[in-house]
Amino acid sequence: MTQSAPRIERLAEIDSTNEEAKRRLGAGAETPFWISATAQTAGRGRRGRPWQSSGGNLFLSGAYRFSSDPGELAQLSFVTALAAYDAFAAHVLPGAVSLKWPNDLLLDGAKAGGILLESGTDAVGRWLVVGIGLNIADAPDNTPYPALALADRLAPGLNRPHPDDVARDLAAAFESWLGVWRREGFTAIRKAWLSRASGLGEPIVVKGGAEDLYGVFEDLDAGGALCLRQPDGALMRVAAGDVFFPGRK
Ligand code: BTN
Repeated sequence: MTQSAPRIERLAEIDSTNEEAKRRLGAGAETPFWISATAQTAGRGRRGRPWQSSGGNLFLSGAYRFSSDPGELAQLSFVTALAAYDAFAAHVLPGAVSLKWPNDLLLDGAKAGGILLESGTDAVGRWLVVGIGLNIADAPDNTPYPALALADRLAPGLNRPHPDDVARDLAAAFESWLGVWRREGFTAIRKAWLSRASGLGEPIVVKGGAEDLYGVFEDLDAGGALCLRQPDGALMRVAAGDVFFPGRK
């Protein structure tokens, strides 16, 4: 796969690279553009959660403009997850990295990265900000899901990479997977994502809605929803939530 390397502007400390990307879009910045930060003072995760953002980890946002509708743009979270997978897989033993629905990066089953997609429409058109946080040097403590950093699982003989190097590889991989999405559509992205997915065929619990949902993670549908086979045999499509694996230690 040929990978072009988008330019990434490195910032020192900032509130949030996603917020900065949105400010720049609002000020008319030309797209696409990528920014990273050494540290964030108000890093944000999915569902309004804070994202611990101390030095040594990666905080990266890419800003794009598309004519696709919002439903299609949501597919780009899977494109981003595949790019994050590629950026991490080069540093660890084969099989150590996997993807957890909807868009977490796992390292030996523990969370090592997350993705926050934000989109909207302004006078210019539809915009999308892809925000990626990757634990390179440190993983936070006391998280709802166990966490690890790349530094905890480096392949023998490899040194911990600088966040700038991981950012460069990730942005280039994003461009490559974006090309796949544009040429072949979500079908190809879905297939690639499923082949890297954690917990396919396993019992899971999806939390975050009015009630916890139990079942077997059977598939990803054509729009990216999780297909959950419930204990009564019915297939439920889940559009949002946090997946846990009750059978794992
Ligand atoms: C998650 O909850 O798993 C998503 C975490 C996304 C964090 C990244 S760090 C770079 C960008 N800026 C933010 O404020 N959030 C995203």
